[in-house]
Amino acid sequence: QRNIAVMTSGGDAPGMNANVRAIVRSAINKNCRVFAVHEGYSGLVNGGPEYIKEMKWVDVRGWLNMGGTNIGTARCKEFRERWGRLKACKNMIEAGIDALIVCGGDGSLTGADLFRAEWPDLIKELLDKKEITEDTYHTYKHLNICGTVGSIDNDMSSTDATIGAFSSLDRICHAIDYIDATANSHQRAFVIEVMGRHCGWLALMAAIATSADYVFIPEKPTSVDEWSDHMCEAVSQHRSRGKRKTIVVVAEGAISSNLTPITCEDVKKVLVDRLGLDTRVTTLGHVQRGGPAVAFDRFLATLQGVAAVDAVLEGTPDTPSPMIGIAENKIVRRKLVDAVKLTKSVAKAIEDKDFEKAISLRDSEFHE
Ligand code: F6P
Repeated sequence: QRNIAVMTSGGDAPGMNANVRAIVRSAINKNCRVFAVHEGYSGLVNGGPEYIKEMKWVDVRGWLNMGGTNIGTARCKEFRERWGRLKACKNMIEAGIDALIVCGGDGSLTGADLFRAEWPDLIKELLDKKEITEDTYHTYKHLNICGTVGSIDNDMSSTDATIGAFSSLDRICHAIDYIDATANSHQRAFVIEVMGRHCGWLALMAAIATSADYVFIPEKPTSVDEWSDHMCEAVSQHRSRGKRKTIVVVAEGAISSNLTPITCEDVKKVLVDRLGLDTRVTTLGHVQRGGPAVAFDRFLATLQGVAAVDAVLEGTPDTPSPMIGIAENKIVRRKLVDAVKLTKSVAKAIEDKDFEKAISLRDSEFHE
């Protein structure tokens, strides 16, 4: 009988609960015991029954649509250190766990990948220090890990969608619909900041879905002069056709070509100074991350939870750790290490201002 642990890590995302629910029930269906690690990697580092709890079928009843993550999440500094991972290794063995499924963003999955790569050394160290017996060493020599991608940012390579991104997008669109009504009434302009960290997916998709007048994303930096002219031209044209409101969406990671951030206040100043528009700034903040999961995220998280349990059960010491993604509407199993590497290469290319490379790297994943 296998003992599988599931954890959520990094920023919460709608659909994480649905993912945990599917993992718990699918694992039980396949005659495994399943444990929830509470509070992300902190729970693994702290260990014990307070943090690592066995889950039964009924424990996840009603979780399918719930936002956030009921088993808690955290960004854990200790797990970034080797001593923290050594503690986590010991705690897992003490709880009898031999496989781990992590639902989180790229940082959390990078941690998972490192943990698996280091596992043989960690467990050997526990044996050498006589903290575990020879028998225990042989029982837990290999750790199977699988990642499912939970993040509202949709910033992970090798998957078309991350769990939570469409719920967040839906929330942003609703918020902009509300703002539209008041903007239209007063003939105002609104500059709206949306989340996404270094990725412009949420901002771009929201701008398209709400017919915003202009959008700023990190993937397309421009100089202040260039964006000011371009934005004012677009907004003036829309106004000249009788549009009573102006909506400009700014991704929180938006940057100009000298890599300085483009802030909502910068954009507001241009709209006021050059076009004389009565302008307000709205930062949507964490409402974008809360609330129930939309149908797509419930479905994605459920199918990926089932696929993740299959993946850890089929894993062998020689197979690389998988990440469950979705590509062209199919649930796919990718190499976690490749997805993490590609995500980091895209980020590096953006950092180096090599935007063509960033775009071609991002495209490459869809044309394997
Ligand atoms: O990664 C998810 C995310 O919501 C980002 O979009 C945002 O930049 C960040 O987390 C906010 O982090 P925190 O909740 O720690 O303020």
